[in-house]
Amino acid sequence: MTYLKRMLAGSVAALVLALPAAAAEYRIAVGDGAGGTQEALGKAFISALEKETGGKMTGKLFLNGQLGDEQDTVTAASTGTLDFSILAINNITPFSPTVGTLTLPYVILSLEDAEKVTQGELGQKMVDQTIEDAGVRIIGWAYSGFRVLTNSKKPISTVADLKDLVVRVPKNEIMIETYKSWGINPTPMAWTETFAALQQKVVDGQDNPYMTVYSMKFDEVQKYVTNLRYIFSIEPLIVSEQLFQGMSAEEQKQVLAAGAAATKASGEFLRAEEAKIRDELAKRGMEIQDPADGEKEFIELATSAVWPKFYDKIGGKDVLNGVLTSLGRETVQ
Ligand code: MLT
Repeated sequence: MTYLKRMLAGSVAALVLALPAAAAEYRIAVGDGAGGTQEALGKAFISALEKETGGKMTGKLFLNGQLGDEQDTVTAASTGTLDFSILAINNITPFSPTVGTLTLPYVILSLEDAEKVTQGELGQKMVDQTIEDAGVRIIGWAYSGFRVLTNSKKPISTVADLKDLVVRVPKNEIMIETYKSWGINPTPMAWTETFAALQQKVVDGQDNPYMTVYSMKFDEVQKYVTNLRYIFSIEPLIVSEQLFQGMSAEEQKQVLAAGAAATKASGEFLRAEEAKIRDELAKRGMEIQDPADGEKEFIELATSAVWPKFYDKIGGKDVLNGVLTSLGRETVQ
């Protein structure tokens, strides 16, 4: 071999050794569009994951339900055909009823409540139960704010105003029963179909947080907003348990640390952005109002009719009482 050839061969070998092994790039399904809390959580997770692993692991977000409807992504992750998903908690409940406690109307009453329950001992129990029930592990939590009611038809401030309004809800029994307690039969529908249904006026309205209304551009097809507070939207980041179990102990630690960092960033994001987003939606023409009488009628009807119906499903009245106690609230008898 000539000197030149030897030198070139040596340089190529050095170059190959200097290149890092290809990073593992995971697919992360995201139910919502750009600009909302789900995307913020996903971005924070990817950057923390890259930092934790020195660039050996990264992720790619697929926004707007490109990898399937939120409920379908739970099945996909559980069977190992999807790596990660970020979705609303109400779309995990059908697979793991205990997390339904977080969807019961008027249980979580603030961002602080949401952080306390999800990041404490109760949250860890829900994580464990979800692995057992659904084959997915919650490794991070996004916080999106209260699900406000939007519609294209008329201003709503009382329960009576809901009459004749066709409202889309997720395929979630607790939410269906909540609207029934307010006297109407809602229309259960997959998240990916919701924008078109609102646009084509198949349904008049829906509920979701301001962050989601904004990221889904619902202001283009909805006019009236009622500041209901019946569900504070919590949106977990889940990983396929099959994928997680295939990782080394060190990798698992890194993934969990990245999830925890993303959770922290999500709370900060909501605190910084929610009021701005609400103002932006008002500027774009949405008419926003509070429910009459401090929401009293909505609260009384929903809590008295819906809570008792779901005690068994969520794992017993004690599960709800555990959450209420941890929040310093009165328990149910
Ligand atoms: C739903 O309404 O199905 C979900 O809350 C949508 C979301 O994840 O933002």
